Amino acid sequence: MVNVGIVGATGMVGRTFLKIMEERKFPVDNLYLFASAKSKGEIIKFNNKEFKIEELNEHSFDRPIDIALFSAGGNISKKYAPIAKEKGITVIDNSSAWRMEDWVPLIVPEVNPEAVHGHQGIISNPNCSTIQSVIPLKPLNDKYKLKRVIFSTYQAVSGSGVGGIKDLENGLAAPYHNKYPHPIAFNVLPHIDDFLENGYTKEEIKMIEETKKILNDQDIKITATTVRVPVRYGHAVSANIELENSFELEDIFELFRNSDGIEVIDDPANNVYPMPILAEGTDTVYVGRIRRDFSVENGLNIWIVADNSRKGAATNTVQIAELLINK
Ligand SMILES: NC(=O)c1ccc[n+]([C@@H]2O[C@H](COP(=O)([O-])OP(=O)(O)OC[C@H]3O[C@@H](n4cnc5c(N)ncnc54)[C@H](OP(=O)(O)O)[C@@H]3O)[C@@H](O)[C@H]2O)c1
Repeated sequence: MVNVGIVGATGMVGRTFLKIMEERKFPVDNLYLFASAKSKGEIIKFNNKEFKIEELNEHSFDRPIDIALFSAGGNISKKYAPIAKEKGITVIDNSSAWRMEDWVPLIVPEVNPEAVHGHQGIISNPNCSTIQSVIPLKPLNDKYKLKRVIFSTYQAVSGSGVGGIKDLENGLAAPYHNKYPHPIAFNVLPHIDDFLENGYTKEEIKMIEETKKILNDQDIKITATTVRVPVRYGHAVSANIELENSFELEDIFELFRNSDGIEVIDDPANNVYPMPILAEGTDTVYVGRIRRDFSVENGLNIWIVADNSRKGAATNTVQIAELLINK
């Protein structure tokens, strides 16, 4: 049995951690829930028991916690993950604060579970769109070698937490925005996270750099455009892929059908393809619209959909915790 701490327990991802740990019967012994001062004293149920939210502070980790799951934003992770690590706690962090540090493993259990060995107290959970994308890219890279990937994403508002959902729901009746710089209801924003001087957003750079780190291949050429769409749950990614080696399309279908975590949904004649409303509430990565890109040699187009709050965040984190306890 494991003593677990959750930082950001009242948030969208934090609440989903609890749901997933219940579903997967994660062997929790003691549970400690932390959030901001605003939520102090709030009661949250886990396995039919009530737990009181504590305000996070420097002394929160002065107790026998084994694993702490963090999802309270980058600044909180930067400040508090080292404090927890110092106390011998293993942190699994959902923010981008530690992902690109050389000594921090960035793990998708279906892709690079071996990276858990030799961790030094902090493990990062990748960006949501990256997680669902590397799951089909890994078998392609192993078999045909990826040359270039162009990502275009269609990301749900829940990817921005509770605030994103409010912007969508409040905006359905009249133009409204608070979390985003423009209304998201009846709109599409080519803008996720902050803009950088080179014209990309941080989200786009995360997809590019994290994909290379997880696949352990710095030679793949990758570019990305990340877009927020008025969908509650479920990110979609269009991946245009150039492979080094030639392929038969039937073999690609077979490869995906035999890969862990993937379900192929692809019957265009009957209007069957992956969609966010099919993915919502599941832990599967759905792949469809699998077709040759005739404009380049060895070109392939695929459409990838998954529930960002589950496989893109909480489920992946709990799977990493399972890797740790089974190590
Ligand atoms: N949503 C996704 O699909 C997704 C996917 C991957 C990664 N992530 C990452 O996960 C993190 C949380 O995202 P979310 O979507 O769950 O956001 P959210 O719904 O806005 O929740 C934020 C959580 O952080 C807590 N928090 C805020 N300030 C705090 C403070 N000063 N001290 C302690 N706790 C504090 C909040 O507590 P209060 O309720 O008390 O304010 C709440 O529990 C972010 O780093 C995000 O980038 C999100």
